[in-house]
Amino acid sequence: MTRTFAIILAQPNAWVLDLCCGTGDMAFALQRLATKSGATILGTDFSHAMLQRAYEKSEETSPRWIEADALNLPFSDGQFDLVTAAFGFRNLADYNTGLREILRVLRPGGECGILDFGEPQGLMGQAYRLYFRRVLPVIGTAISGVRGPYAYLPASVARFPSPTEMLERMRREGFQQASWTPYTFGIAGLYRGKK
Ligand SMILES: C[S@@+](CC[C@H](N)C(=O)[O-])C[C@H]1O[C@@H](n2cnc3c(N)ncnc32)[C@H](O)[C@@H]1O
Repeated sequence: MTRTFAIILAQPNAWVLDLCCGTGDMAFALQRLATKSGATILGTDFSHAMLQRAYEKSEETSPRWIEADALNLPFSDGQFDLVTAAFGFRNLADYNTGLREILRVLRPGGECGILDFGEPQGLMGQAYRLYFRRVLPVIGTAISGVRGPYAYLPASVARFPSPTEMLERMRREGFQQASWTPYTFGIAGLYRGKK
């Protein structure tokens, strides 16, 4: 996803917000591409423990970490050139509010990139769902001894709107040029939109 936004990241005055940054992997990847330009990268998450881990992984040139709820961002309107979210948007309690907040903090012409899981269609989708919903939770729980995450992941993917619906929501909230690029038969995909 980071290379998709290389032009924005190459702008010295660019402000980039990575939502639901967790322990910061996507924010660090954005930072690596922005090192030459000096663009400002902010990573936000509402989990203090996640940000603590991101902070511990940080070096001299690292994103800035800010504790914030993606549904109620502590930023002014039109502050960012790019807003990203990698495998975090799906977890939001309210997708429309999340999209509205992204749009609000983007400057006119700014872009958003939401990378998240999906479910493939057709025969491949049926096989994938069988594996993802029935096999993976059993194997994952047996190996790790922890049930929660391996049950939560398929449940959260099933709850996430289809690409058609997600694009419709983006357009309805006001995004221009909304698009979806599937990766690996649609197991994951990148939603893009402009303000
Ligand atoms: C799978 S992790 C994201 C991984 C991360 N993007 C990366 O690049 O490594 C999902 C994150 O979403 C965060 N999250 C979920 N709902 C949120 C919300 N409303 N506001 C902020 N963060 C949220 C969780 O705390 C969690 O850290």
